[in-house]
Amino acid sequence: MSKALSGYRILDFTHVQSGPTCTQLLAWFGADVIKVERAGEGDATRGQLRDIPEADSLYFTMLNHNKRSITLDTKNPKGKQVLETLIKECDVLVENFAPGALDRMGFTWERINELNPKMVVASVKGFGPGPYEHCKVYENVAQCAGGSASTTGFDDGPPMVTGAQIGDSGTGLHLALGILAALLQRQTSGRGQKVLAPMQDAVLNLCRVKLRDQQRLERTGVMKEYPQYPDTPFGDSVPRAGNASGGGQPGSILKCKGWETDPNAYIYFVNQGAVWDSVCKVIGKEEWLADPSFATPALRVNHMKNIFAAVEEWTKTKTKFEAMDILNKFDIPCGPILSMKEIAEEQSLRDTGTIVEVDHPVRGKYLTVGNPIKLSDSPTDVTRSPLLGEHTEEVLGQLGYSAEQIADLRKDGVIS
Ligand code: COA
Repeated sequence: MSKALSGYRILDFTHVQSGPTCTQLLAWFGADVIKVERAGEGDATRGQLRDIPEADSLYFTMLNHNKRSITLDTKNPKGKQVLETLIKECDVLVENFAPGALDRMGFTWERINELNPKMVVASVKGFGPGPYEHCKVYENVAQCAGGSASTTGFDDGPPMVTGAQIGDSGTGLHLALGILAALLQRQTSGRGQKVLAPMQDAVLNLCRVKLRDQQRLERTGVMKEYPQYPDTPFGDSVPRAGNASGGGQPGSILKCKGWETDPNAYIYFVNQGAVWDSVCKVIGKEEWLADPSFATPALRVNHMKNIFAAVEEWTKTKTKFEAMDILNKFDIPCGPILSMKEIAEEQSLRDTGTIVEVDHPVRGKYLTVGNPIKLSDSPTDVTRSPLLGEHTEEVLGQLGYSAEQIADLRKDGVIS
C-alpha cells in the first residue's frame, strides 16, 4: 500500500530531539527521509544517555526510526557538492542547527532557493526574530521562555518544568504541520518557502489557556477555578495552579488505595457539574444534594477543597482502577495516574501500534512510541533507526555517484 507521503524526499539535517521528532513523523507517513550526519560522529544523541556500551542510545533510536543515514562533511568543498546534489533531489530540507550555522556552511536560503526553487526549507530555532534570536536553546529553556514553567507546579514552590517534551517534541510537531502546509501550497504556487517553528512560540501555543487566564485575571482580579481561590489573594500574573484542571470544570489529583507506598496510586478526578448528583451518591454524601449552598457549580466553587477532600476519602478506599471502573459507570470523568512501567505493559497501546517493540542489530529488542497519529489509508510500520552512515553508499549511488567516486570521498574523509 502506498503511504501518504510516498514519493516525497526529505533532506534531514536535524539532530538531538526537536528536528528528529518532525522528520520521524514525515518518515512514518511514508516520506524517504535521508538523515545527514557528521562523518565519524553523527548525531550527538547516538552517544548520550547510553544504557548499552557501543550501541546507539535509546534517545537516538526512539527519534530516528524509518530513516536512512548518510555521513557527510558538509564543510568540506566535496561534501558541499554532495549536499548541493541532495538539495536538487529533495523536496524539503529540515534543520535545527544553532542560529546561523546553515548560512556559515554556505547554504543560505537564497543559495538553496537558487539550487532548487521548489524546496521547502524548514527550521526549528529557540526563538523567533527579536532579542534572543541568536541563542542556542534546549528543551527546558523553551519551557521557561514560553510561559510553561511559570504556570506549572504548586503555588508555594518554584517554577517547574514538565516531563512532556513540549519544547522539543512539541516544536517538532508544529514544524511537521508547517512543512505539510508548505508542500500543499507548493502544488499551486510551484514554489518552495521557508518554514520556521521557534520553540518559545510552540510552547506558548501549547500554553494558550494560561494567556487566556492572564487576561481574565487582569479584568476580574480572581480565577475561581484556581486552588488559590478563595483563601489566597492573586497577584498580577497567572500563578501556578497545582493540579487544577485548566478548563471550566474543577479537577484534582486524589489519593487512592496504596498511596502510602505506591507513588502513582492516584486518580485524576473531574468534578463536572453535569454529574454532581452521581458524585454525591457514589461517595455517600447525599445530604449535599439538598444543601442550598451546594446547589449550583458557581456555589460549589466556594467549597471545592472540602468536596475534593470528601471524594478523596472515598478514592482512598479503592485502587485507581477500581475507582475508575465505578466512576465510569456514572460518566464521571476521571483517569488513573499511570506509571511508565504500567504504560509499557499496557496491551491496548501495543495493539494500536502506539507502543512498538523494535529489533536493533546492536542493542537487540527495545520498546518505542510508534506513530500516535493514525491514518486509515497510510498505516505506520515502525522500522529500526539506521546505524551511522548505513545508507551512505546506497544514497550516493542513487544520486549517480560511481563506486570509484564514493571510494575517493571516503579516502578524503568526506564520508566515513
Ligand atoms: N558536517 C560538518 N559540520 C557540521 C555537520 C556536518 N554534517 N553538521 C553540523 N555541523 C556543524 C554546524 O555547521 C555547526 O558549525 P558552526 O558552529 O561552525 O557553524 C556545528 O556543527 C555545531 O552545530 P550546532 O547546531 O551549533 O550544534 P551544538 O551542539 O553546538 O548546539 C543546539 C546544539 C541544539 C543547542 C543548537 O543546534 C540549537 O540551538 N538548535 C536550535 C534549537 C533546537 O533545536 N534546540 C533543541 C534541540 S533538541
